[in-house]
Parts: sequence; C-alpha cells; structure tokens
Amino acid sequence: MSAVTADLIIQNGTIVSADASTVGSIAIKDGRVLAVGAAEAMPQARETVDVTGLHVLPGAIDVHVHFRDPGYPAKEDWASGTAAAAFGGVTTVFDMPNTIPPTGTAAILAAKHDIAASKACVDFGLYGLLGDDTIAHVPALIEGGVIGFKLYMGNTFGKIPSPSTGAMLEAFEVVAPTGKRISLHAETNSIMERRQERLAAAGRQDPLAHIASRPAVVAVEAVSRAAILAEWTGARIHILHISSAEELRPLREGKARGVDITGETCPHYLLLSTDDYHDLAGIIRVNPPVREARNREPLWAALTDGTIDLIATDHAPHTPEEKTRNDIWAVDCGFPGVETQMPLMLTEVNRGRMSICDYVRRSSYNPAKIWGLYPRKGGILPGSDADLAIVDLAREHTLYDKELQSRSKISPWNGRRIKGLPLHTLVRGRFVMKDRKLVDGMRGFGRSVHEIQNMPAPQPRNTDLTMQAIVGEAADRRVEHIA
Ligand code: DOR
Ligand code: ZN
Repeated sequence: MSAVTADLIIQNGTIVSADASTVGSIAIKDGRVLAVGAAEAMPQARETVDVTGLHVLPGAIDVHVHFRDPGYPAKEDWASGTAAAAFGGVTTVFDMPNTIPPTGTAAILAAKHDIAASKACVDFGLYGLLGDDTIAHVPALIEGGVIGFKLYMGNTFGKIPSPSTGAMLEAFEVVAPTGKRISLHAETNSIMERRQERLAAAGRQDPLAHIASRPAVVAVEAVSRAAILAEWTGARIHILHISSAEELRPLREGKARGVDITGETCPHYLLLSTDDYHDLAGIIRVNPPVREARNREPLWAALTDGTIDLIATDHAPHTPEEKTRNDIWAVDCGFPGVETQMPLMLTEVNRGRMSICDYVRRSSYNPAKIWGLYPRKGGILPGSDADLAIVDLAREHTLYDKELQSRSKISPWNGRRIKGLPLHTLVRGRFVMKDRKLVDGMRGFGRSVHEIQNMPAPQPRNTDLTMQAIVGEAADRRVEHIA
C-alpha cells in the first residue's frame, strides 16, 4: 500500500486522449497527474470527485486569443478573458500582441506578463510582435519569455503595419535559429488595402463589401509567400485562421516540401458562411472574412486529414456599439470565441463530424506538440499538468451572449443550440470553474508557460546568406582592408 496521499481524485470518468478513451480515475498531487488507472488502483486522497458519465479531456489550448490588456478595458481584460476561457474548458491561452502598446519590446512584454500573472485564472503564453521595428528586439523578447512571435502580413484591428517581404525575410532569418514558431496573419495587405479603397470610393458600405475586399487570393498569396520564406530560412511558421479552400493548397504543398508549417482554423469558418451576413451583418465582420459555404467542406476535410493541425478561436472581443455600426468599414473586426469553441465543437462530435479523440488532438494535443509543451500540457499522463475539461457530452444547452463571461456580449452564436458542455475546468489540479460557476480566489493563479516550453532543435537554412552573416563578413573585410 502506497504511503502517498493524492490531493484530489477525479473518479470514474471517460478519460480521453488524442487516440483513445477509457473509463478510469485520475489522481492529482501538487498540480500534476500522479496516476491514471482503475478506480481501485488509486492512492488515498484528500478529496474525491466522482464524474461517472462525464468525459475528462485535457484542457483546450487556444493558441489565438486577444485579451486586450493592456489597452482596451471596455473590450476585455485578463480577468474577464480567462474567466471566459475557464467556462470554455480552455486551460491555456496564447495572447496576441496587438494590445496598447504592442508587445514589441522586452519592457512592454514584462509589463504584460505582470498584468496577466496578476489577473489570469488559466495558464497563458504571450506572443511577441515581429514587425519592421522589432526585429532587433527578438533576442530580448525571447529572454523575456515569449511563447512565439506574431507577424501581421496584413492589417487588422490595431493597425499594426505589415512588414515588407524584405523585412519578413530578415525576421525569419533572425527567428529561425532560435527555434521559436512565427504565427502569421496571412493576408496580403497591398491587395486588400487597394480593393477596400476602391470599394469605399464606390460607395459600398454593406457587409458583403468586406469579403469583396478580401477574396481568398489575399490568403493564398500570403500563405504561399510565407511558405517560400520559411523554406528558405528553416523558420517554423503557423498559419492562423485559415478561412478558404484555396489556401489549403499552398499549405499542403509546403508540408509536402518539408516546410515546418502548421495551420489552424476557427469554429466560425467551419460553421458560418456568407449566408449569415444577412442576419448577422457586422457581427460576423472578422479578418479573414467568413466566406462562401462551399469552403466549409474542404476545411472540414483538411481538419480530418491533418492538413489543418488545430482549432483555435481568434477570440476578438469588441463592444456591441463597435459591432453594430451601419457602415461596414467602421465595424471593428472579430468577436469572442474562447468560451464557445468547445461546446460548438462537441456538438459536431455528437453529430459524428469527428470523434472525441480527434477533437482532443486538434484542441489540445497538437497545440501542445507544436509549441513544445507536450507532455506537460496536451495529455493526461503521469507527470502532466492536471489541466482538465470535464464535459457532459449529452448536455443540451442554448448559448446566449448575455451569459458570456467575456466583456464582449455580442457574438454570432447567440441563441444557438449546442450539445456537449464543459461542467468543470481544472488548471494544474485546481478547479477554476466548477458546476458552471467561476471558483473564487483563482485570479492570479495562471502562469506563463514559456518556462516549460521545449521546442525541438532548430534547423536554420541558408545561414551563410542571412543579413547577419553578410553584413558581419562584409564588416570584417572592411576592417581587414583598413588594417
Ligand atoms: O478580425 C480580427 N480581429 N482579426 C484579427 O486578426 C485581429 C482581431 C482583433 O484583434 O480584433
Ligand atoms: Zn487574431
């Protein structure tokens, strides 16, 4: 008989991994999984919670959220954003750098770390901004603890200027040897800016003008170009929010060429289409846009065959006033999603779109693998952080905007029926959401995951041709010449 006493046992749930599910119990000690096995094999525990009939999933890892803090308290902050995550079964979030000021220097990053650490109830990673002016800050941002970098090939909320292709190549050259992944907003700015100007000048202000300004070629061109630069430099890249069937081809081709390129899509691209602009208008204005219904099947197929690696949300909260302006160009882009992703996708599991294991692979296991967090995150194994989403797959429920934890009470999902709901969420062995209620006192419990990140060894290419090598050698020659 073991002398170890666990802190908590989650008893008799259906424990789900990326490739199997099995009924059993999970013993938790000091925030980590101590043992997984039959109920009668568990050690003594201070507390036991029986979850018979429920599924226990590794908490979702949402690699794409905008928690707006610092900068836009009317839209969201780290307390409301992570409360939304907890309600959505999401135990780790990666936050985007388009806050005020943008997360482009070590000092700004340190300030954001402090804010997040003081308010977050789930774990988090922070992206550093990779732009024209921040390339020189890459080493300091890594030292300061970024989870990866974000590069805006196209303009979106926050109007962060998109780097030229030249600056982008140099940015890739600098990041490649560090092994960090660069997440890309892959929409080519010059194409959509020009089209938007022409549409606005022609008097178009209707919701469909938004999609007219950003046809899929905007993404196809950007993904293709990014894959070429990643292939040249060996930089690791991740394509955010894949919205069209057409951009799957450069993604597939990049993967086939051995480029370290991964991709995500979001529930709105899988479940909505241009048919929804009539009722939802600016509410579904998002970048990239929700597209024609014909894109949905190819996106689902790409998720099934692994071309698209994961599901993220692009949680982009704005106020109802900002989302309901008459002129589409004045409507802020995006809507909250971190809280509704899991119920929406579990509904699709119930419909037979994918298995519960496939869902775990895309919502938790793959994100953990891709950002070097596995097996601490992304699975329920001895030694893993006890990050759990305990869900009732049979629970039917209606999503209402007014019930969202997010400060942004406006989304495309208002009134939508779902089947499959997270009932409890644990982060490192502690309940942060229990019985659909936020647990008191967990604010400030969330930690940055950069310290446990372990990316595989980098494989930079063409290192003799990087700007650093060229400028360095030229500088040496100049010095020799003078001497
Ligand atoms: O629609 C969007 N909104 N797309 C983005 O890429 C950014 C986001 C935001 O920050 O609001
Ligand atoms: Zn985004």
